[in-house]
Amino acid sequence: MRHRRLLAAGAVGTVVVAAALGISSAAGAAPSASAPRASAPRDEGAPDSLRALAAKIGLRIGTAVIPFDLNTPAYRDIVADQFSVVTPGNEMKWQVVEPTRGTYDWSGGDRLVKFAEEHGQLVRGHTLLWHNQLPAWLTTGVANGTISDTELRALLHKHVIDEVTHFKGKIWQWDVANEFFTDSNPSGINPNDFWVSHLGAGIIAEAFRWAHQADPHALLFYNDYNIAGEDGTNAKSDAVYAWLRQMLAEGVPINGVGDQGHLDTQYGFPTQMTQDLRRYASLGLKVAITEADVRTFVNNPTAQVPTDHLATFAQPYEFSQMLKACLAVRQCISFTVWGFGDADSWIPGFFTGEGYATIYDVNLQPKPAYFDLQQDLQLAAYGAPHRVHTDQH
Ligand code: G3I
Repeated sequence: MRHRRLLAAGAVGTVVVAAALGISSAAGAAPSASAPRASAPRDEGAPDSLRALAAKIGLRIGTAVIPFDLNTPAYRDIVADQFSVVTPGNEMKWQVVEPTRGTYDWSGGDRLVKFAEEHGQLVRGHTLLWHNQLPAWLTTGVANGTISDTELRALLHKHVIDEVTHFKGKIWQWDVANEFFTDSNPSGINPNDFWVSHLGAGIIAEAFRWAHQADPHALLFYNDYNIAGEDGTNAKSDAVYAWLRQMLAEGVPINGVGDQGHLDTQYGFPTQMTQDLRRYASLGLKVAITEADVRTFVNNPTAQVPTDHLATFAQPYEFSQMLKACLAVRQCISFTVWGFGDADSWIPGFFTGEGYATIYDVNLQPKPAYFDLQQDLQLAAYGAPHRVHTDQH
């Protein structure tokens, strides 16, 4: 793929570019002296690809992938050419990996890991502990009482150990725990969450310990949405920040926090995002944007043409602002979009009347959001701080 719309940025001074990106001197720091393993992709693709531009500052650009769609050439080429880290959208979730009790199906995850190895990409594992997309045998057994809480805990332990062991050495970042906090003010760990209600809130820390035991070199992430100011009040970010600080004080092996980054043009861009990412980083954590998309109202779920012309400007603007928030924080080591084409996006199926949420259109042609990200990364190569070491040790 060749998407040329480069700036003649070579003559632009670093200070000017950094200012344009909203990067303060506090965030700036000297590039790492030694090249970390994870920031030296073997195959960066075309020089103006998202992955190649991001590689100049050690940032990984990622996408959620449907592994079995990699057989489709147009889809496969974009994944290979544009991205340096990949996440299976569904294929590492418990519902998929153990559809029948005791019988694993790693085929989707294995397929993606192999593709990533062949294309110089890293893998985000997603997700080990979540209330959603659990196997029916598990939720049914819990509901009818044939699986006790004691057995449930043992099953979860086995699930985490078996899955992390299966992919040991192949996963850069694991989303160990996903979406545990309430959308309320104040926010906190949801007492009604499936896992918390059966096993207590301490099960989240346990999952991190088990994952670390099974693969001590994987970066272990807490992942959630609306945790970088998207809720307007910042209540959820405050709660997650306080919890992370407590977990780290207790020695729980958490290495990073992922803000999913599901935005909607009707709410405007969250004003606190950079500060919130920086606040997590101040705890010594890596940060990442893990599921970026920006939805808006559209004519229908097939064509996905925005109904408000201004949305065609707001959508790429919010993508760009989100990337800039990541660029401004050295500890932000990856920026992942949740699928790259509108035809594959989860949005039309979940938000009635909305769509146009990704960076490629329904025909896999790059949209303004793609070119804005490309332009931001081109500028960043001359002004944004190099990322911190991306390995755990
Ligand atoms: O695989 C079945 C297929 O056999 C069946 O015919 C079809 C009929 O509906 O459903 C298919 O399963 C769907 C699955 O995606 C795979 O496509 C499920 O219905 C659908 O609910 C599921 O949606 C996924 C969603 O998580 C579930 O909550 C999305 O693809 C996935 O992108 C989305 O990802 C989540 C992240 O994991 C966590 N953060 C939020 C994000 C968006 O919801």
